Amino acid sequence: MTDSNKTATLTVHGKEYELPVHSPTAGPDVVDIRKLYGQAGVFTYDPGFTSTASCDSTITYIDGDKGELLHRGYPIDQLAEKSHFLEVCYLLLYGELPGAKDLETFESTITRHTMLHEQMQYFYRGFRRDAHPMAIMVGVVGAMSAFYHDSTDISDPHQREVASHRLIAKMPTIAAWAYKYHTGQPFVYPRNDLDYASNFLRMCFSVPAEEYEVNPILSRAMDRIFTLHADHEQNASTSTVRLASSSGANPFACIAAGIACLWGPAHGGANQACLEMLEEIGTVDRIPEYIARAKDKNDPFRLMGFGHRVYKNFDPRAKVMKQSADEVLDLLGVENNPKLQVAKELEKEALQDPYFAEKKLFPNVDFYSGIILEAMGFPTSMFTPIFALSRTVGWVSQWKEMIADPQNKIGRPRQLYLGETSRDYVDIEKR
Ligand code: SDX
Repeated sequence: MTDSNKTATLTVHGKEYELPVHSPTAGPDVVDIRKLYGQAGVFTYDPGFTSTASCDSTITYIDGDKGELLHRGYPIDQLAEKSHFLEVCYLLLYGELPGAKDLETFESTITRHTMLHEQMQYFYRGFRRDAHPMAIMVGVVGAMSAFYHDSTDISDPHQREVASHRLIAKMPTIAAWAYKYHTGQPFVYPRNDLDYASNFLRMCFSVPAEEYEVNPILSRAMDRIFTLHADHEQNASTSTVRLASSSGANPFACIAAGIACLWGPAHGGANQACLEMLEEIGTVDRIPEYIARAKDKNDPFRLMGFGHRVYKNFDPRAKVMKQSADEVLDLLGVENNPKLQVAKELEKEALQDPYFAEKKLFPNVDFYSGIILEAMGFPTSMFTPIFALSRTVGWVSQWKEMIADPQNKIGRPRQLYLGETSRDYVDIEKR
């Protein structure tokens, strides 16, 4: 951060305090309150962290008003169109787009880490067949701590690097095997002659009884979906990974915590919830009923895939996803997909409604992704595992950045206490 010599003056109980102000390369200035409690004896209060920067970072920047998303300065729409997921992984991890040789080395390294320790299959067998694949992913990724002991020492940069590569490489296998276990079909091993997205599709959809040809249209669409979900500043799951990591916990346990947080319907679980909502709406004539429900303060229903803490304009990922939905369904010959029709009409009617305009609620990344994933053959239960698979590179990149930061310390928020003050124990006879 650049010290701008700017300060903010805060008056507390009649006394003034000068607080340093730091200026970013993009976005709002920050008021540094690290010494506030020591100087003024007061906390700040910000449930949900709506106005709080938890760290400094150089990885991803979002301009919510413009609807802009940059990964190391590169706009997401350019990366989605011109790059591919493993190149974006390199960019997020190392800060620059790789030259041809570095990219080849990186892709070869990731490819050769895609297999899981053979004994990890036994973890799957302990789950019910109808277990949600996110429950399996939380368990299996956490269990990686019990298998890969040679990459859990976070003080060793080499072990951090190996753990990063293992997590990015193995998540497609872990997610695909969760799907296969659910279907009762045998696990399919990764292949080193396939690219990342093709490998994942083949591990999900091929069966030993016949050859499986990867459809290049689906592989390109899959790769683009991975790219669109790769990282997103200090969202809830990334903040979970950072907080878990701040205690020095090993990377596998921390990423498992991130997966658990992502599962919620307010976060990464929204893609599954959105498709289920579109199914429930069914036809365009029922849209007004659901828009009315979303606006009704007494109805907990919300339009899933709509709204965002940071974007107060179109989520740029949703724009790319919407174009991709049209392309993929068209190329797959899926005409007049009812859910896509409902989604487009719902978007149109919602954006014309003053309630959504005033609250600046627009479609987010989860609004169209499920339509593409369903057309590709995935059940709704696999939507969030795919989000988790994609977001692993973001979690890992943010984790590496935090661990390497000399300012890194354990995260320990305070509170506004509203409970009982000190009182003496009362014996049961006197209660
Ligand atoms: C992701 O943070 C990230 O970057 C996340 C993510 C990532 O890549 O990591 O982008 C991925 O999680 C996208 C969001 C997916 N979630 C959903 O689509 C679920 C539906 N959306 C909402 O629940 C909500 O919009 C959130 C959770 C996304 C954001 O919530 P905020 O920022 O806490 O906003 P809020 O709940 O305070 O809402 C502000 C107002 C409220 O009305 P008032 O209390 O001011 O009267 O807008 C209303 C809300 O009731 N509102 C909605 C709404 N979203 C917000 N009303 C109807 N439908 C909605 N979807």
